[in-house]
Formats: sequence, structure tokens, C-alpha cells
Amino acid sequence: MSVVALVGAQWGDEGKGKITDFLAREADCVVRYQGGSNAGHTVVDGGRKYMLHLMPSGILYPDKLCVIGNGVALDLAILVEELKTLESQGIDTSNLRISNRAHILMPYHKKFDELQEHGGRQLGTTRRGIGPAYADKMERVGFRLADVMDTDFPARFAVLVREKNRILQRLYDHAGYDHEAMLDKLLGYVEYIQDYIADTSLLVNQVIDKGRKVLLEGAQGTLLDIDHGTYPYVTSSYPTAGGACIGAGVGPTRISRVVGVAKAYSTRVGEGPFPTELDDEAGSHIRERGAEFGTTTGRPRRCGWLDAVVLRYAARVNGLTDLAITKIDVLDEMDTVKICVGYRWRGKIIQEFPDSLRILQDCEPVYIEMEGWKTSLSGCRTYEELPTAARRYIDQITELTGVRHCLIATGPERNQTIVTNEVFARK
Ligand code: GDP
Ligand code: IMO
Ligand code: MG
Repeated sequence: MSVVALVGAQWGDEGKGKITDFLAREADCVVRYQGGSNAGHTVVDGGRKYMLHLMPSGILYPDKLCVIGNGVALDLAILVEELKTLESQGIDTSNLRISNRAHILMPYHKKFDELQEHGGRQLGTTRRGIGPAYADKMERVGFRLADVMDTDFPARFAVLVREKNRILQRLYDHAGYDHEAMLDKLLGYVEYIQDYIADTSLLVNQVIDKGRKVLLEGAQGTLLDIDHGTYPYVTSSYPTAGGACIGAGVGPTRISRVVGVAKAYSTRVGEGPFPTELDDEAGSHIRERGAEFGTTTGRPRRCGWLDAVVLRYAARVNGLTDLAITKIDVLDEMDTVKICVGYRWRGKIIQEFPDSLRILQDCEPVYIEMEGWKTSLSGCRTYEELPTAARRYIDQITELTGVRHCLIATGPERNQTIVTNEVFARK
């Protein structure tokens, strides 16, 4: 049995798409377990760039079972668009399966997200309707793909749309939705994806039972987790490893390793505390060199030094067994590089990631400063080929987190990846 959960160890955009695609070579099945089209995962293969929002990042391999799990909030319009785009790029999507228990993200969810962001509740969301869709799921007024097949669905849907319209009209001065037009569109999308819909928990567990390799691909990151992140500046799902079990329908006893994807520095997009954020030239340099602009929204990402307090926290709440370190090449030109090892606050040094937003906002990061390597890493294919200063930086991360590394990425391409430890058990 070899089931690997892959999670973002920071604030998202760590390079999960690239690492998933790389590990997918060895896997038999790749499962997206939470989030929705707020995710933007990039895979680059032979100069071709693929931007994936809902699709598991194993989709480029025609022989892998790719699954959108029950934990995903499914925007059907975006899903169908993404399927068509991939097909036009010559990608075979026939191995995709979508959970019959996945909740449908409706047009009104997007509208509420937009209106709430506009109306002063500014979290800097991606405006993809994520919060309102998961809120409806928890309130038990959401609709799963399986529900659409029920004979009473049109009537239940009409009641709910009427309710949503009343809120839209009274609170937001919005005209509301024509539920019949929405229903027609919805049924058209469901028909389009009909052949993909399945009991995916059953399928994934059958793959595991056969002793095959499964990769559970997280979206967003640990610090955006609804429970473990910097609440309320978080997303509305569980990107952490526990969420992988729930969102894929796989028991915790079946997971063999948990890989945290960590950028060699930090970024955040949207609002919320970010202790190591840089407002200076170093921050702009990282943004430009790292092309730190959102895959989903195009927004410039906030950039800062690597934060080992964050990584230690991610190691704890996810039970990380491995780290995949990405984008180390972005630091190639730095004279010196810094890692935050604690937060100074009111004369004390804090080493455990605090729950208080006030502390996170007001604290001063304590850094260790190390020599830069001032040479390009993009061609390095083995750990030994890395310059000493880069190896020291990586070793420092291992020492500070207590987690071994399994992969070091030195560029966006598939082959710009150094394997340092295997994560899938050999047969
Ligand atoms: P994800 O959301 O975690 O999948 O990450 P994104 O795709 O949103 O952002 C990561 C970006 O960095 C993408 O443009 C990747 O192609 C790129 N990338 C991934 N790994 C590396 C790396 O090691 N070096 C460089 N320079 N770029 C990378
Ligand atoms: P991937 O999977 C980075 C951020 C948004 C906002 C907050 C809440 O590509 O790493 P939401 O739309 O989810 O309600 O927004 O979360 N956010 C992400 N940041 N990467 C992501 O996904 C993100 N998905 C959401 O910017 O701050
Ligand atoms: Mg992204």
C-alpha cells in the first residue's frame, strides 16, 4: 500500500501542480480532495504550460486514474471549460472520474462571494464562490451531483433559488436569478460530464486494495486551512492532510506518507497576516524572478523570506514526513538569503506559530542570514551538483523543521527536479 498525501505547507502556490505532476509519473491514481476553481495549479512539460483549476495535476498522463473527490466544490461551468481546453490541447481526459458526492458550486455562490467582498467583508478571496458554496454544504442546503439525478431535484432547487433571490434582492439590490434558466444550464453541464460521475471513494479504495500507488493532491495551503490557518483570512475548506482523508473518502490508516510542498521563500495572495513579508527591493526581486502573479486571478503575490516557524507548524498539523522544496532557483542572484526562525513580540521570542492575528501582525521576525550561491541552479539534476551554499540552505531547512526532503525543484519544467528520497514504496 502506498498512498501519499501532498499538501501546501505555506499560503498556497507552493508549486503543488508541478510536484504532483512529477510524482504522478509513478502513481496509478491522482485525487484532488478539496477546494475548487480558486486553485490554480501550473504544470509545465516540454515548454507547454497547463493551468489547472479543478483537474488533478496527473491529467497529462493518459494512463492514470484522475479523480475529483467529494471534498471539491465543483463549478460545472469551469469544469466543462477546462475539459474542453484540455481536449483542444490533445489531452485525453477519459480517465477522469468525478465524485457523485461533490457539491455543486452555483452561480449564486459566486455572486455572493463577489458582493460580500465588495461590501466591506474584504478577505481578498478569488471570488470563485468558495466560501458561500461550502457554507451551503455545512448548512445542508447544498446540492451534490448525486442529488441532481433525483426526481424531486427541480422542486428543491426552485425553493432554494427563491430563497437566495430574496436575500439578493433585499440585501444587495440584485435582480436575482431565473431558476429555470439556471436549471437548464445545470442539467446541460451534468449531461456533458455524465460518463465521468462515479462513487470515487469506492474506486480509490479499490486501487489501494490492489496495492497500487495513489497521490492525494491538496489545493491552497496549510495557512489557508479553515481550522489551522490565519482565520478568518483563510479559504473555506481543509487543505491539510486530515482534509485529504475526508475529501477523498480514504481512511487515515491508509496514508503512508505526507509530503509538504514548500517554496524556498514565502508568498501570500489576498489579505491577512504575513510576518516575513518584504516591502523592499528584495521582495520585488523575488516577485519578478519568481513570476509571482496569481494563476487564477493574476494578482501580484506578496513575497517574503522563508518562514521556518510556519514550516514547523505545517509539519505538526499535517504530520509531514517529507518536504518538496520548490523555486530555490528564484534566489539564485541573492547576495544573502534569510530564514525566519522565531517571532519577537513584546520582548519575547515566540517559536510556535501563534493563533493571534495581532501577534502575527505586530511581531518582528528573527532571521538567520546565510550566504547566497550567486549561480544558476536551473541545470542541476542531482543534489551533489548543487553549490555548497545552496545545499547549506536546504540542510538548514531540514534542521529547522526536522523533516527530510524528497524533492528539490530548480525550475518549472518537469525535468528540473532533483529526487533526494523516494516517497512511494517500491513494489
Ligand atoms: P500551485 O498552486 O501550488 O500548484 O502553484 P502555482 O502553479 O500557482 O505557482 C507556482 C508557479 O511556480 C508556477 O508558475 C510554476 O510553473 C512555477 N514553479 C514551480 N516550481 C518551480 C521551480 O522550482 N522554479 C521556478 N522558477 N518555478 C517553479
Ligand atoms: P492554490 O491551490 C493561493 C486565497 C485567496 C484569499 C483566500 C480565500 O493555487 O495554491 P477563497 O477564494 O478560497 O475564498 O479565498 O485564500 N487563496 C489562494 N491563495 N493559492 C491558492 O490556491 C488559493 N486559493 C485561495 O487569495 O486570500
Ligand atoms: Mg496556485
